Amino acid sequence: MNHLELAGKLFHDGRYEEAAEHYRSARELDPHNWQAVTGYNRAIRRIVPRWHFEMMHDHERAVQYEAAIKQVVTADHLVLDVGTGSGMLALMAARVGAERVVACEGQPVVAEAARGIVAGAGYAAQVDVVPKMSTDLLVPGDLPRRADVLITETVDCGLLGEGILASIGHAREHLLTDQAIIVPGRARVLAQLVESRALHQKNTVGELHGFDLSGFNELASLEYFDSRLRRHEHRVLSAPFEVFRFDFHRDGPAPQQATLRVPPTAAGACHAVVFWFELELVPGITVTNAPDHPTTHWKQAVQCLPHPVAVHPNDPLAVDVRHDGLRICFTDISADTSTRKERQG
Ligand SMILES: C[S@@+](CC[C@H](N)C(=O)[O-])C[C@H]1O[C@@H](n2cnc3c(N)ncnc32)[C@H](O)[C@@H]1O
Repeated sequence: MNHLELAGKLFHDGRYEEAAEHYRSARELDPHNWQAVTGYNRAIRRIVPRWHFEMMHDHERAVQYEAAIKQVVTADHLVLDVGTGSGMLALMAARVGAERVVACEGQPVVAEAARGIVAGAGYAAQVDVVPKMSTDLLVPGDLPRRADVLITETVDCGLLGEGILASIGHAREHLLTDQAIIVPGRARVLAQLVESRALHQKNTVGELHGFDLSGFNELASLEYFDSRLRRHEHRVLSAPFEVFRFDFHRDGPAPQQATLRVPPTAAGACHAVVFWFELELVPGITVTNAPDHPTTHWKQAVQCLPHPVAVHPNDPLAVDVRHDGLRICFTDISADTSTRKERQG
């Protein structure tokens, strides 16, 4: 089988990393082979999400991370960068003079790119790029000893979706000194109730073009998705309220649940909960994807409710929320706790 045939088979089997390698080899043999060029692009698209580029251009995120790194990293530090992507944060740590930086990246093609970027920047002697998930790192081996500083930016719009709680928890136990500095140190998740037919329609369908399509609502989901609140017509029905708080020096991925009492600030039909994070890198240096903070590359997390919930300023709501270490989910919102008891009874 030649490279192209093999690549096609691997792609079909969902083995995109290997498919990309064979498409690349085919492209190297014949740079004008369109099948090799498009095949490589398609395989890379499956492996490397496009948000990497938008994220790298997020100026504020970079400025805040560099300020935090400058504040904590000193010349005798061994720094561990979990999820290095392009290698940018590892390079920042090297530039401020860290003795050594180990930068791990779970996606091999991304790690390969980072290694080239680090060498190109002249920091290959100071920064080791390791193509592994942090949870597979060995001490000694991948790290010469436990690290003094952990830097990571492994958060999605809903904070937990990239597994930050588990990877920091594992690092504390296996990869860091007892006194290690962790950047980010803490985080809060905040939410707001909104009325928005436009958002509701992203997860619900009814009658359209003379047909009742509501059977498709079986496939609607309670999972959040990313969206920019300001781009959708909406009315806010509550002030922002705190959902969860995390201390990365202490907390792990154990599931949590809470019932929050939320007073609506306006009457309306609540279609969705919009939520975001405040990530405290070090005290006083924070990044956020709050809706009133439009410069962030992260959008907000939006969870549509299965059915609109009527809300009124005089009736506080009981909002049930939980996370399983990876995803935050609002499981029930009802007009008040007594209504809920009646319904459950
Ligand atoms: C949001 S990007 C951030 C990249 C880079 N740190 C930056 O700030 O520009 C997160 C990267 O971490 C990687 N990643 C996530 N969790 C990881 C883990 N536990 N170990 C290694 N890589 C991880 C992903 O593959 C992705 O490339």
